[in-house]
Amino acid sequence: MPLPLSDPSLLRRQCLIDGDWRDAQGGATFPVDNPASGETLARVADGGALEAGAAIAAARAALPGWRALTARERARLLRRWYELVLANQEDLARLMTLEQGKPLTEARGEIAYGAAYIDWFAEEARRVYGDIIPTTAPDRRLLVTRQPVGVVAAITPWNFPMAMLARKLAPALAVGCTVVAKPAAETPLSALALAELAQRAGMPPGVLNLVVGTDAPAIGGVLTASRDVAKLSFTGSTAVGRQLLAACANTVKRVSMELGGNAPLLVFDDADLDLAVDGAMAAKFRNAGQTCICANRILVQRGIHDHFVARLRERIAALRVGDGLAEGTLIGPLINQRAVAKVADLVGDALAGGARLLESGTAPGGPGFFHAPTLLTGVSPGMRIFREEIFGPVAAITPFSDEAQALALANDTDAGLAAYFYTADLGRIWRVSEGLDYGMVGVNETAISSEVIPFGGMKASGMGREGSRHGVDDYLEIKHICLGIGPSPDN
Ligand code: SIN
Repeated sequence: MPLPLSDPSLLRRQCLIDGDWRDAQGGATFPVDNPASGETLARVADGGALEAGAAIAAARAALPGWRALTARERARLLRRWYELVLANQEDLARLMTLEQGKPLTEARGEIAYGAAYIDWFAEEARRVYGDIIPTTAPDRRLLVTRQPVGVVAAITPWNFPMAMLARKLAPALAVGCTVVAKPAAETPLSALALAELAQRAGMPPGVLNLVVGTDAPAIGGVLTASRDVAKLSFTGSTAVGRQLLAACANTVKRVSMELGGNAPLLVFDDADLDLAVDGAMAAKFRNAGQTCICANRILVQRGIHDHFVARLRERIAALRVGDGLAEGTLIGPLINQRAVAKVADLVGDALAGGARLLESGTAPGGPGFFHAPTLLTGVSPGMRIFREEIFGPVAAITPFSDEAQALALANDTDAGLAAYFYTADLGRIWRVSEGLDYGMVGVNETAISSEVIPFGGMKASGMGREGSRHGVDDYLEIKHICLGIGPSPDN
């Protein structure tokens, strides 16, 4: 069945290598399925080690020409790309909902969010300044320049198939790197459409290459082993991040890692209840709970606990679950059956450990990978649901007594990506913001992501920052130039 796109040529099914759309060796393909129905949307080239190698060679060959352009020339191209993305927002959003499942309104939002990185870095890369250091000797001048690291490998996840790719591609390309990207096999169509628009914007052959395929270890193995790849940027699970870090050690690659989270959301007794409930709903149920920064643990002070829980319960009961393309859907399917089983397993473990099931909304029966939005109370730190990323629409509530206990519970994890808290007390705002071991902290706010902020985590949540003026740093090398100018002719 043709997909409901006004421009069907955005549906690409092959790898992009050296400016050509190519089949995989032997014509191998794999299915891309709609998680709302289980139906196959398209079959896509199943690229592997061979395609990864060819893509690296193309990126290597394109590097001198691309990095020799002025930042302004590259920025013009990126700006055309950004405009094309926005002009095709509706088709891109539909494609994303079809392959990823999120409601269409969220998919539209993600296209705008991802596009904003392209626009931002087109501008930011024009301000990659160096330094002149006051000299230590009269016959020398000391300079610092920043130059592109070289060929970048980008490996991106299925939960934000466009924005996670855009926030790696945009800074890398803007500062003069060339790229080999490997998007998740669950959601390649959004990435391929983004690459198609880059082609239309005039991206020279080899500057942006995309290898789609199911054999992630083979593709990742080639990318991490290659001496021609200077840098790996990865967004995904901490477990896979650890393997990639180890694999990059051999060639001492630069790495950026945006890994798993276990975000606490703290609600203190003095919080504005309406604001806290709104924030918890947004942080918990965005993308059906499949985000690294979603509120994984909701910690509520005892004085406000019952009021907060009652309000949250009403809101959860009203959530409409269904196909992301259907009008009024607020929660789409999870990505696959494994994800549904994992969430159900975590809920089962919590209930067996003494948690209470307060609300279990309705999910459609029939085909599709749905999990009902769920509210659990009495969750304790020993339970798996407190320690692992849920990645599903389950709100897990743990009570606390005071600020010290709240901070201790919040920091009791290896993860350190995002944390949120609600309070009206100014002193507490400072103390808790400083005490949370997290790369990003939302105070009386959970919508923290945008292209202007440095997104990234501490501890096992990774290294490096994406977005903001810091987002170019991960794609630049610092070079010191010591210029000997000889003695003054008057000496
Ligand atoms: C993520 O889940 O890692 C991305 C979320 C965001 O960019 O807001």
